[in-house]
Amino acid sequence: TADPNRELLEIARRIAVAAGELAAARRAAGVEVAASKSSPEDVVTFADREVEQFIRRSLAEARPNDGFFGEESIDSASAGTSGLTWVVDPIDGTVNYLYGIPAYNISIAVVEGEPDPQTWRPLAGCVVNPVLGEVFTATDARGAHLGTKPLHVNPPVDLSQALVATGFGYNSDVRVKQGLVLAGLIGQVRDIRRIGAAALDLCYLAAGRYDAYYERGLNPWDHAAGALIAAEAGARVSGFGQAAAGRDFTLAAEPLLAALLEPIIRTLFDEAGL
Ligand code: IPD
Repeated sequence: TADPNRELLEIARRIAVAAGELAAARRAAGVEVAASKSSPEDVVTFADREVEQFIRRSLAEARPNDGFFGEESIDSASAGTSGLTWVVDPIDGTVNYLYGIPAYNISIAVVEGEPDPQTWRPLAGCVVNPVLGEVFTATDARGAHLGTKPLHVNPPVDLSQALVATGFGYNSDVRVKQGLVLAGLIGQVRDIRRIGAAALDLCYLAAGRYDAYYERGLNPWDHAAGALIAAEAGARVSGFGQAAAGRDFTLAAEPLLAALLEPIIRTLFDEAGL
């Protein structure tokens, strides 16, 4: 049967690819920090703002009745009247973008319900790395793809063989505690990765480039598209216990490995006072 969310995905893909071209062109011309946000390290470039405005305008043309919830304009988020909301990170991996590390992405998802990860239902998501030309997509119950290639998480592995990715928030107290968690984990796993873009982390997990990914402090736009892509590739994506993935905790891994890792990470969080 036809995928009911195909058209939404095509809109997300078209706009994310165009936004990626814009971001890459601005990067080539030179990046400038426009302001800092939650901390001096949490910056926004002029390109983040311009790319978000481009995405917002393009979505308003294609889907005038939908809501919009974007990282750089949370104060002017709009609810819409259709019951659908677009959740957008114009440039995820801003620090990589600033330094010219080719690991940033445009993340566009459309969800049913409020833009709240605990209650929303993601319908379609697209994550584009314009530097590598990688386009990750998924729609609800129809699988995840990199380009046209279907994605599957890695089969279960022993903890000692697991390549685990994570990220850090911008608040320095929290970062120190996240470092303690990492110190407790690194001896138990194959190795750790921190590429600096949460949406790519979730897509890499979906593509089998990692065995697991966890992070505390993610914002809705960081994981809306990536979490759908990971889940559609067969990952369990969740918070602690029965909670959905979100700000408190996001863990994505093949389900058996996720079940193994969750209590270990939870204990390390408790010990670190997170
Ligand atoms: C950040 C990145 C980073 C993650 C942070 C995010 P931004 O997003 O995804 O990898 O560790 O939690 O805030 O600020 O580059 O859009």
